Amino acid sequence: MQKISVRGGKVLKGTVEISGSKNATLPVMTAALLGESPSHLKNIPYLNDIKTMAEVLRKLGSKAVLDDHELKIDPAGFNKFEAPYDLVKTMRASIYSLGACLARMGEAKVSLPGGCAIGARPIDLHLKGVEQLGAKVTIEHGFVHAKASKLKGATIYLAGPHGPSVGATVNVVLAATAAEGTTVIESASSEPEVNDLVNFLNKMGASIEGVGTSKLVIEGKKKLNGVEYSVIPDRVEAGTFMAAAAITKGDVLVKDANPGHLTAVIDKFRQIGVTVDVTKEGIRVKGGDNYKPADVMILPYPGFPTDMQAQIMALLLTVPGNSIVTETIWENRFMHVFEMNRMGADITIDRSHAVVKGGGKLSGAPVMASDLRASAALILAGLVAEGETLVQRIYHLDRGYEKIEEKLSKLGADIKRIN
Ligand code: UD1
Repeated sequence: MQKISVRGGKVLKGTVEISGSKNATLPVMTAALLGESPSHLKNIPYLNDIKTMAEVLRKLGSKAVLDDHELKIDPAGFNKFEAPYDLVKTMRASIYSLGACLARMGEAKVSLPGGCAIGARPIDLHLKGVEQLGAKVTIEHGFVHAKASKLKGATIYLAGPHGPSVGATVNVVLAATAAEGTTVIESASSEPEVNDLVNFLNKMGASIEGVGTSKLVIEGKKKLNGVEYSVIPDRVEAGTFMAAAAITKGDVLVKDANPGHLTAVIDKFRQIGVTVDVTKEGIRVKGGDNYKPADVMILPYPGFPTDMQAQIMALLLTVPGNSIVTETIWENRFMHVFEMNRMGADITIDRSHAVVKGGGKLSGAPVMASDLRASAALILAGLVAEGETLVQRIYHLDRGYEKIEEKLSKLGADIKRIN
């Protein structure tokens, strides 16, 4: 089992290049199945989740070739509609094959994804959405089976108890491109990754209005062609490197990051006392000596993202005083807290609130990553802890961060991967 070893105390300086967005690439890859010709995707991050999605596309009969941050998808052979358990269990986004298979074949069979460390992760909104488009859904033997002789446009309200759903919006958008008439999605997710999917589909020939808003209007049955498309930069990777610069009181240019996707994160960093300059090349982050505690409320976009919750908590560990982090999206996303406390942090949890008493000394320890962003946050804490932090279960990290240890090392961190 590989581990990441970090020795704290180095001040990070220099420039880091941000990869393409994992969470934007996954729906765009699935949408490429709907073209009548191949698509050529660029700025693709080289990550395990992307390889898994390429495998899902191949299982559905299409070709998917990943080569040096580019991905060629030829949907000519797309003629199967089953996403098997082995793939879905390793990556929940395989559920996007539900929308694509319904659109192209009028039938989809996808293994039920189940929960994961951060929460129960239901798919009721995905199913409600495709049912309202006319699909008949049954659940049997651990599979969702959806069938529609004809998909028909509808007005669908897609929010759940925690607000809009990224995944449900993706699935309904995909299915609605093949529905007869107009589909209106109310309370759609407006996360940048959903916007990227909509922009890609529109470039293919779809007619989707309302990009970036909570109301998407889709005229179905347009002919879609494969296109060349460059995926947006990864805002969570960018935010993670911003936190690395701030936590070590360094000076880092996060190159090619899109500040428009990180407004809430930039605002919160500035409130804490971090200097954040938006330049033509990206976002430059300079640490300071007088950080102030903060109240961080996690909300759907454009609010502070849940995928940056663990990383900002790592930063708040270095800030004297009491900070509060409230998680409203995932019910079980504080697993990193227990590991941070093992490093000497003082964090208490009361339901969805975490109270961080920052400013104390952190000491390196062997820690266990519970999920993707928690892994990154433990590395961040390791950057300022005394001695060695050994992060285990880093297969989570490799799902979503491309060469994080190499990028941090180039900025001056004492970090290595141990086999
Ligand atoms: C996506 C991201 C994930 C991020 C999350 C929220 C990908 C591959 N993953 O996950 O990194 O943390 O958005 O920004 O892009 N919900 C329901 N019923 C449903 C679907 C969701 O109640 O049918 C709830 C969830 O339990 C959660 C909330 O809605 O509480 C948001 O989930 P959702 O936006 O669907 O997250 P994902 O698309 O799974």
